[in-house]
Amino acid sequence: MTVQLWRHCRVATLQPSHPAPYGLIEDAALVLEGGRIVWVGPRSELPADLAARCTCEHDAGGALVTPGLIDCHTHLVYGGDRAHEFELRLQGASYEDVARAGGGISSTVKATRAATEPELYALGLKRLRALIAEGVTTLEIKSGYGLALEHERKALRVARALGRSQPVEVRTTFLGAHAIPPEFAGRPDAYVDEVVRMLPLLHAEGLVDAVDAFCERIAFSTAQTERVFQAAHALGLPVKLHAEQLSDSGGAELAARYGALSCDHLEWLSEAGAAAMAQAGSVGVLLPGAFYFLRETKLPPVALLRQHGVAMAISTDCNPGSSPCTSLLLMLNMACTLFRLTPEEALTGVTRHAAKALGLSDRGVLAPGLRADFVLWDVAHPAQLAYALGANPRLRTVFNGELV
Ligand code: NIG
Ligand code: FE
Repeated sequence: MTVQLWRHCRVATLQPSHPAPYGLIEDAALVLEGGRIVWVGPRSELPADLAARCTCEHDAGGALVTPGLIDCHTHLVYGGDRAHEFELRLQGASYEDVARAGGGISSTVKATRAATEPELYALGLKRLRALIAEGVTTLEIKSGYGLALEHERKALRVARALGRSQPVEVRTTFLGAHAIPPEFAGRPDAYVDEVVRMLPLLHAEGLVDAVDAFCERIAFSTAQTERVFQAAHALGLPVKLHAEQLSDSGGAELAARYGALSCDHLEWLSEAGAAAMAQAGSVGVLLPGAFYFLRETKLPPVALLRQHGVAMAISTDCNPGSSPCTSLLLMLNMACTLFRLTPEEALTGVTRHAAKALGLSDRGVLAPGLRADFVLWDVAHPAQLAYALGANPRLRTVFNGELV
């Protein structure tokens, strides 16, 4: 088996046990074997017997190396677009007004249902390629624009197919409880019954890694959300939640009771919610793209999350309605400028904490035994990744030990 040595680089390991900010190692070396990291550290400390076993050597040209980026919250597979609603909102309508008038998620449901599997694949591929071009090596894709068995299945199959065809690992999340489809209008509980019926069927087809819901006054109540969580629990599937985006519904506390991997959005999160998340070890996923695009004014309570020791992740929320965004690097900048995260918190939010939000313990930091997913950047310091707007300093990506 090839043993690769990467040298002439600075490595931001993001390992919490490394004392330097970003876990930064100057003049570092990395040794890989079979898609895993075998060794990482200062080049001067590379053991001679390990150096002798290396069969191939790469000069990183002085690049900065970080873990492969992880986009832990996307709705990347959908049909159509919502540019018209963008225009309506510019004329004064709110996101909730548009949703209540039958636009919003429902309009994307219509377009997604009308699209064939190959059409959805082609649309998703364009978006995915943009993310990969910025160093994403793992991403989550949610369903939730099908809202009927055949269409939820179609979207999840597309998500799986994208993961098989591209140098990226895709984790799928069933978001059947995203909105109430037209055929269930006025009968939300009956639709929740349907969600609970769909879940085991899709899971049996190997299409579901986690289960999410949209808990909000324009979507599902906590009682309805809890029924979805119970169905997930019965199958041993982890849960996550779109929580406290537009109001405080107490969703985070509910999700924490179910040991949620993450609670996402969180602008209206209460102190009790933050405490419950900390207790459960749920990650707080912040979505600055949606905050910006909807021109929200209520900031997520970052100080509260820090105070309670809730791990914060950052994601694109790539979706047509609230965050038509395929740049995770831009989200790093926005997390700092809008939410006042430090660049180190932001980078941790798209690596170590994003891995945790997906329940993945084999990535997100560069350490022996973990996956060899990493990115070489043309920057002198990791803070530059969050500093620049619209730059893409990615040089190379190594995915599963192989140069992409
Ligand atoms: O994460 N909040 C709910 N879902 C998406 C938006 C969906 C849409 O508007 O299409 C979000 O913001
Ligand atoms: Fe979302």
